[in-house]
Amino acid sequence: KKYGIHFVVVGPEAPLVAGLVDRLEEAGIHTFGPSQKAAALEGSKGFTKDFCRRHGVPTAAYGRFTDAEQAKAFVRRRGAPIVVKADGLAAGKGVTVAMTVEAALAAIDEAMLQNRFGAAGASLVIEEYLEGEEASFFALADGTDIVSLGAAQDHKRVGDGDTGPNTGGMGAYAPPPIVTTAMADEILRMIIKPTIAGMKAEGAPFKGVLFAGLMIAREGPKLIEFNTRFGDPECQVLLPRLKSDLLPALIAARDGELRNITLRWRD
Ligand code: AMP
Ligand code: GLY
Repeated sequence: KKYGIHFVVVGPEAPLVAGLVDRLEEAGIHTFGPSQKAAALEGSKGFTKDFCRRHGVPTAAYGRFTDAEQAKAFVRRRGAPIVVKADGLAAGKGVTVAMTVEAALAAIDEAMLQNRFGAAGASLVIEEYLEGEEASFFALADGTDIVSLGAAQDHKRVGDGDTGPNTGGMGAYAPPPIVTTAMADEILRMIIKPTIAGMKAEGAPFKGVLFAGLMIAREGPKLIEFNTRFGDPECQVLLPRLKSDLLPALIAARDGELRNITLRWRD
């Protein structure tokens, strides 16, 4: 208000999940980004898994836990490899891809007993290990309509030669060859469209950038997670490919006018 700012693009996940978009809109300041309710697609992995089940979005089989003993019993029953995830925001570090049962049990202890992720780890999603190649897909949405922003791949592990623990992304490139035109159509049809339609049907229309982290498995794309914003570092490789102005598209997404927007891309 002090500086007369009339359009805000909210970048990072913490203020989105905390409801900054709702607060700015209430104050009469036009804002690009999802509401607090819609940002739950990033803020709670458990919410997203249940949402995917309700709307038929393909994703790994899973269980949700708030009790460490029940979580451990599930891991012992399912065996390894298995993936343990803190429910809430953990800056890309809340996921353990456990190749052994022991590693999964240790991850449960870290999250639930040693509180490594604070409140974000009090609830866990434990899921099936997916095989395939990862890619990320980006779409602008205005609550109803969708414009594709294309795909990217990032380098997740901290060390050279793809070694060490996962990070939020050490670097990225676009476009990834695995996301062919046909694959992009399949991702839109199976993952992005049912999500935007499902959020609208549930009374939390999604406006903003929907960033789908995917495993391209033999049977097709499966959702690993959603982010509700441009990714860092992915944004750095997506936007230089854009030949159109981005700002009109962001305003159209905010105003429910995306159907009037066509973006042009460099090859
Ligand atoms: P997320 O924060 O949920 O995107 O998970 C971080 C990373 O963990 C992903 O980019 C994958 O490399 C890996 N990962 C997460 N879930 C799975 C899964 N179900 N199967 C295999 N790898 C996974
Ligand atoms: N690079 C993934 C993210 O921004 O969360």
